[in-house]
Amino acid sequence: MMDWTDRHCRFFHRQLSAHALLYTEMITAEAILRGKRDVLLGFSREEHPVALQLGGSDPTKLAEAAEIGEGYGYCEINLNVGCPSDRVQEGRFGACLMAEPDLVARCVVAMRARVRVPVTVKCRIGIDDQDGEADLERFVSAVAAAGCRTFIVHARKAWLQGLSPKENREVPPLDYGRVYRLKAAHPELEIVINGGVATLDDVDTHLANVDGVALGRAAYQNPYLIADVDRRLFGATVDPPARRDVIEALIPYTEKHVRSGGRLNNIARHILGLYHGRPRARAFRRHLAEQAPRDGAGAGVLLQAMRIAEGDDAVLLAAE
Ligand SMILES: Cc1cc2nc3c(=O)[nH]c(=O)nc-3n(C[C@H](O)[C@H](O)[C@H](O)COP(=O)(O)O)c2cc1C
Repeated sequence: MMDWTDRHCRFFHRQLSAHALLYTEMITAEAILRGKRDVLLGFSREEHPVALQLGGSDPTKLAEAAEIGEGYGYCEINLNVGCPSDRVQEGRFGACLMAEPDLVARCVVAMRARVRVPVTVKCRIGIDDQDGEADLERFVSAVAAAGCRTFIVHARKAWLQGLSPKENREVPPLDYGRVYRLKAAHPELEIVINGGVATLDDVDTHLANVDGVALGRAAYQNPYLIADVDRRLFGATVDPPARRDVIEALIPYTEKHVRSGGRLNNIARHILGLYHGRPRARAFRRHLAEQAPRDGAGAGVLLQAMRIAEGDDAVLLAAE
């Protein structure tokens, strides 16, 4: 998710689940070809497995960007056909490509020719007036014929005019049935559902109908949700990590980041929701929000916030 799931966020989420597949935010092919690649694509080995999401519609550029991404170690290349922002439409990529299945198919063919890792597509159930069952079927069949085996489907249509990206994540109604029927019509494809999933019980319900579930906002805003994923979905036998263990696991990573000139807040901003729903969640968030952006703030701020959240009153008083 743009501006959210950067490498620090993914490192943090990886402390919560060893197995969940993590995605980068969308990075345009153009940026990869012309920009600072290490900044855009660099990530830590510990984040694995990570999929790289690309934005674009030029098969040659996407193929080149995919190959570069594979070289950086990403385990999947995903093409964004779901983002409705104006900026993205101007560049003729994102959700507007749902109207051009043949072009998306050409992009997939070109990318697959250059990489060994899977090439997947994230899309909506429809756009504008092209939101019938037949439209989705036409899109998926064309792209599947190009060799895409996995579709992550955000179960709501996008309006390309008139709604902001945020509204396009909330206003068009969710239609999970549409995604279930897509899976039923294509048992040979891996269909991953996305949109509005807030609990692991919801995940279980969806998994009776589709092959996977992608969590967006819930995983970011309430990250501890992911802590039980390994046990519930991947057959792990170990208990989920405690929140305090997660913070402690972040300390060496954070110290290294700060030592090399990075700001604490680059990491701290992603963990604000770790104590979501817990009694001292607010005090945890407040301590981080106030202290982490300060010049010279170091990893100790994370430990202080953790002690506040865990009820260490001495720190609570000192922080008042
Ligand atoms: C801040 C923000 C940034 C997003 N950026 C991306 C993106 O880069 N690529 C993408 O495929 N989806 C992006 N999304 C959409 C989410 O991946 C997801 O499809 C959508 O939020 C619905 O799922 P959810 O209800 O689980 O959040 C973004 C969502 C948010 C809130």
